[in-house]
Amino acid sequence: MVTRAKPRQPVAALSPRLMVEMRGVSLIINGKAILNAVDLDVWAGQTVAIIGPSGSGKTTLLRTINHLARPSAGEIRLDGERIDPQAARLRAQRAGIGMVFQNFNLFRNMTALENVMFAPVATGRARVAEAETRARKLIARVGLSDKCGSYPSELSGGQQQRIAIARALAMEPKVMLFDEATSALDPEFAREVLDVMSDLSASGMTIVAVTHEMGFARKVADRIVFMEAGSILADGTPDDLFSEAAPLRVKRFLTS
Ligand SMILES: Nc1ncnc2c1ncn2[C@@H]1O[C@H](COP(=O)(O)OP(=O)(O)OP(=O)(O)O)[C@@H](O)[C@H]1O
Ligand SMILES: [Mg+2]
Repeated sequence: MVTRAKPRQPVAALSPRLMVEMRGVSLIINGKAILNAVDLDVWAGQTVAIIGPSGSGKTTLLRTINHLARPSAGEIRLDGERIDPQAARLRAQRAGIGMVFQNFNLFRNMTALENVMFAPVATGRARVAEAETRARKLIARVGLSDKCGSYPSELSGGQQQRIAIARALAMEPKVMLFDEATSALDPEFAREVLDVMSDLSASGMTIVAVTHEMGFARKVADRIVFMEAGSILADGTPDDLFSEAAPLRVKRFLTS
């Protein structure tokens, strides 16, 4: 089953905008297809959850979107523009993609505020004062205004992850990629991070999230993509994938 979900769009929008477009993307390493002719469309404002067994290529798919992994074949467009590893535009294109990993990766020697301010200042996108004002707003948005001066070692895992989200948002990305953003966290802290992700989704951010959190996938995602062995086996609404009509393989995965 490959059901193309309707893009979530304001009624007034006449022409939905494709934010991420993958066409025939393959990645072959040592003769093995890690990704196998993947086609994926993510419309502006959509939240797409990527699920599937370990080793199915979920992380690799995200890595190809921002060219941390270079496809062997196929084409990827971000907001209509082809991502081209040769192009001087690649850095700018990467700046349009926020990525949040499992392990936070905050700069340990910087406070939460400095972490969020760093990239906009370092890349010349914002002056210090402007970056600080924006960083404080973003930190408030993830509910951590009282932690601006804290170092990562003084924050819980969930708080670090929320700062990591604020840091990614500071570059005003067109799309946010999440890779198992909550899987290293205790359930209580995972909840806080999922709440921030849900708020982002509701605010209209375009999101591609690899997740094991089926509750999140079901309630928040507009679409769920199921991967296996480097291929997309199913792509549909949560109702499609959680229905009796879903492919047997998906049903088995969801009940395992
Ligand atoms: N750079 C690489 N070199 C060789 N093999 C790789 C490389 N990157 C990924 N792989 C292999 O590609 C497959 C897909 O890996 P990937 O990390 O994308 O899976 P995943 O779906 O994210 O798994 P998990 O749920 O465990 O995170 C795995 O078999 C992995 O070993
Ligand atoms: Mg992975």
